[in-house]
Amino acid sequence: MHSIRIQLLAFIMAVLLIFLVILNIYPITSSRDLIFEEKRSALSGQAAVVASSLAGLDRLSPDSVREVLQLLDLGGTSRTVIAADDGSVVYDDAAAGTPIDEGDILSSLKGKCVFRSRFTAEAFSSSYAMPILSRGATVGAVYLCEEDAERAAIISDIQSRLLRFSAAIGAVALLFAALFSTVLLRRMRELVRSIRIVAGGDYTHRLETRGRDEITELGDEFNQLTARLEDTEKQRRRFVSDASHELKTPLASIRLLSDSIVQSENMDGGTMREFAADIGHEAERLQRTTEKLLDLSRLDDDVQVIDEPVDIKQTAVDALAVLRPLAAEKDVKIRCELGDGCVVMANTDDMFHIVFNLMENAVKYNVPGGSVLVRTELEDEKVVLSVTDTGIGIPEEDRLNVFNRFYRVDKARSRASGGSGLGLSIVHDAVLAHGGSIAVGQNKPQGSVFIVSFPRPTSEETGI
Ligand SMILES: Nc1ncnc2c1ncn2[C@@H]1O[C@H](COP(=O)(O)OP(=O)(O)O)[C@@H](O)[C@H]1O
Ligand SMILES: [Mg+2]
Repeated sequence: MHSIRIQLLAFIMAVLLIFLVILNIYPITSSRDLIFEEKRSALSGQAAVVASSLAGLDRLSPDSVREVLQLLDLGGTSRTVIAADDGSVVYDDAAAGTPIDEGDILSSLKGKCVFRSRFTAEAFSSSYAMPILSRGATVGAVYLCEEDAERAAIISDIQSRLLRFSAAIGAVALLFAALFSTVLLRRMRELVRSIRIVAGGDYTHRLETRGRDEITELGDEFNQLTARLEDTEKQRRRFVSDASHELKTPLASIRLLSDSIVQSENMDGGTMREFAADIGHEAERLQRTTEKLLDLSRLDDDVQVIDEPVDIKQTAVDALAVLRPLAAEKDVKIRCELGDGCVVMANTDDMFHIVFNLMENAVKYNVPGGSVLVRTELEDEKVVLSVTDTGIGIPEEDRLNVFNRFYRVDKARSRASGGSGLGLSIVHDAVLAHGGSIAVGQNKPQGSVFIVSFPRPTSEETGI
């Protein structure tokens, strides 16, 4: 459960460690190298002075060497050794003390200059061996030693300061990291807590977000998701209560009618048949409503039915055939202007629902002597179907709602004509399921117009 915190701390510690190691090593090694370089040039300069002064002597004897060296000021050196060409020491100003390296002296007798420098906690110990050349021949060697405790002390001091400084930085950084990860973790926990609350069913819960970082963004997304869930849940409840209400009314009528038949002992045959016919009507309405609910739930299920090319012209002709009797009864004329090639990718059943429901409404909510115009046409990248009527129209404030389930503008009138208030929501869902869009407007001077448009399929899709 704390793994993020551990990961974070481990990462910060690794970065910190690398930084501190570099901080401790780099300045020390580079200043040490600088001092080595300085020692080399100082000692080689001094050795060169000694060598050239001794080069003038005929022979390197202890006395002559001492005489010459006394004239020179070899301030920094802690030991000066002069060797003759056979390797014998002719001069050594501090026989004890700083150790000398005889190998270096021998090397310089062969004509080489040898520099050594070592840094210990106490001192920089450096030595330089150089041949003494006279007229092109090696006549001896100079060997200079130097101990520099002062510089070593400075470097050691810097070293220990850096170490203390690093410890301080490390402690502060860790403290901050711990603090930061605690805050971060607390915010994550809040989020997790909120998710649990919502998962438990409280869709009204919202996470309080502050700041503008990724966690805030996560929180905002979560809140939006919860709001959508809340909305869906509300819709679901409303749907269930609307649906039960819709089913309750016809069932109550059926109960009432059948009770009357059962209870009245000497009901005449005609009345009884009338009642039975009414029961039949209510049952039919129930059947229609449940069928539509099934259609809706099928559309909701989002099952991927394979789309096929459907010609709206054919669909409209089929719907017209079914609606003719109703239109005749209502004294409504249906005109069709069906363009060729109005093909969309959908399925025949859904397309029939769309066209039939729109045409049925246009007839049902019309006036005697009124008319309906069904048009299909191609428009740029769209296939457009419009159903225009000269009927009673839909008040502007209801236009947004007519696609909602069970919504009816005039309940009584719709019920009387056998409406369930589900037709347009089926149309709406079917249109959206096939990538189209639907809008409703007002027809001049009276009536409504429903416009449905679908994307025009490519010839690859239709295979034509
Ligand atoms: N062409 C139309 N003209 C006037 N009102 C309409 C038209 N189409 C739909 N309506 C209104 O929209 C409501 C919803 O339509 P619909 O979903 O088909 O339900 P139903 O027809 O079963 O009542 C109808 O009850 C009606 O009030
Ligand atoms: Mg309808």
